[in-house]
Order: sequence, then structure tokens, then C-alpha cells
Amino acid sequence: MSRLSTAFFGAAVLYVLTGVVMGLVMGATGNHTLKGVHVHINLLGWASLGLMGAFYGIAGDKAPAKVGWANFAALNLGNLLMLPMLAVLLLGRQPIMPVFIAGQMLVLLGFLLFGAAVLMTGFRKPAVAEQAQPASFVETRKAA
Ligand code: HEM
Ligand code: HEM
Repeated sequence: MSRLSTAFFGAAVLYVLTGVVMGLVMGATGNHTLKGVHVHINLLGWASLGLMGAFYGIAGDKAPAKVGWANFAALNLGNLLMLPMLAVLLLGRQPIMPVFIAGQMLVLLGFLLFGAAVLMTGFRKPAVAEQAQPASFVETRKAA
């Protein structure tokens, strides 16, 4: 598995541990004020990063590494800026709007970069090593 994919899954686990602990506290106390934070930690952190990590794992060397790492950085930084501000908002206080909006834009950018990575992977020509193999070898590998 590529380092990029491992980074996505590693971060996803950190988010889901936080989200699940939050869910347990919400269930135990009956206080669901921060439900929106719980939802987005789990869906933007665990589900989205996990899905992307699976994509980069399957794509392997065909995935554009720089776009992939930019995707990773934008989504995580966006989450780390946006989610605390969302908590502040749900607690009835005024969030720091430039930080909140920057976080949302970075999350959006993260998804756009992911879309770009998917397209670049799909349209990328086969690796040089694969092209150099005899056709029968490539066919055998594809069938395996
Ligand atoms: C042990 C783990 C978890 C616990 C104890 C837990 C607990 C809760 C609680 C107490 C609520 C509030 C329900 C309400 O106010 O109506 C909630 C909502 C929600 N949780 Fe979790 N949660 C857990 C894991 C997860 C995970 C892993 C995900 C996503 C991958 C998730 C997604 C959601 C969503 C989308 C809602 C909003 C549902 C709605 O508004 O109808 N939860 N959770
Ligand atoms: C920058 C990105 C995002 C922003 C700014 C955003 C914003 C919001 C807002 C304002 C709400 C309504 C909250 C409320 O009524 O309490 C909401 C709800 C929700 N969002 Fe997002 N969202 C984002 C990304 C996502 C993504 C990527 C997912 C799923 C993968 C998601 C899943 C949900 C769900 C399930 C709810 C309903 C939660 C509930 O029942 O309380 N959101 N979101």
C-alpha cells in the first residue's frame, strides 16, 4: 500500500476515534448540541478520507502523488479549521468567520483535488515498465 493511502487511512482512524468518543458522550449525557460536529468529524474525517485512501491504495503508482498529497493537506487543514469553528457556532457563540470560511474553502478544494486526481489517474497512460513488457505478460498480469 502506498504511503499516501496509509496517511489517509491513518488520519481517518484519528477522526473516527474522536467522532465515536463524541457520539458515546452525546448518548451518555443526552446532550446533542454538538451533533453537527460529530456528523462532520465522522463523514468528512472517517468516511471521506477512508474512501479517498482506498482510491489511492487501488490506484497505486498511477495516482498523481503531488495532487494526492495536496488533496490530503487541503482536506485535513480544512477540517481542522472548520470543525472547531462549527463547534463554537453550535455552542451559541460567534465563530471567527475568516477561519470558518477558509476551512470550508479548503474542504471544497480538497474534494476538487480529489476529483482531479481521479481524472488524472483514469487518463494516465500505462507506466513505462508496463509498456516495456511483452503483450502476453501484461495480459497475464491483468487476468491475475
Ligand atoms: C459508537 C459510535 C457512535 C455513537 C455512540 C454515536 C452516537 C450518535 C448520537 C447520540 C447521535 C445524535 C442523534 C440525534 O440527535 O438524533 C448521532 C448522530 C449521528 N451520527 Fe453518530 N454515533 C457513532 C458513530 C457514528 C459514525 C461512525 C458515523 C458516520 C460514519 C455517525 C454518523 C452520525 C450521523 C450522520 C448522525 C446524524 C443523524 C441524524 O441527525 O439523524 N455516527 N450519533
Ligand atoms: C465544507 C463542507 C461542508 C459544509 C460547510 C457542511 C455544512 C452542513 C450544514 C450547515 C448542515 C446543517 C446542520 C444542521 O442543520 O444542524 C449539514 C448537515 C449535514 N451534513 Fe454537511 N457540510 C459539509 C460537508 C458534508 C459532507 C462531505 C458530508 C457527507 C459525506 C456531510 C454530511 C452531512 C449530514 C449527514 C448532515 C445532516 C446532519 C444532521 O442530521 O444533523 N456534510 N452540513
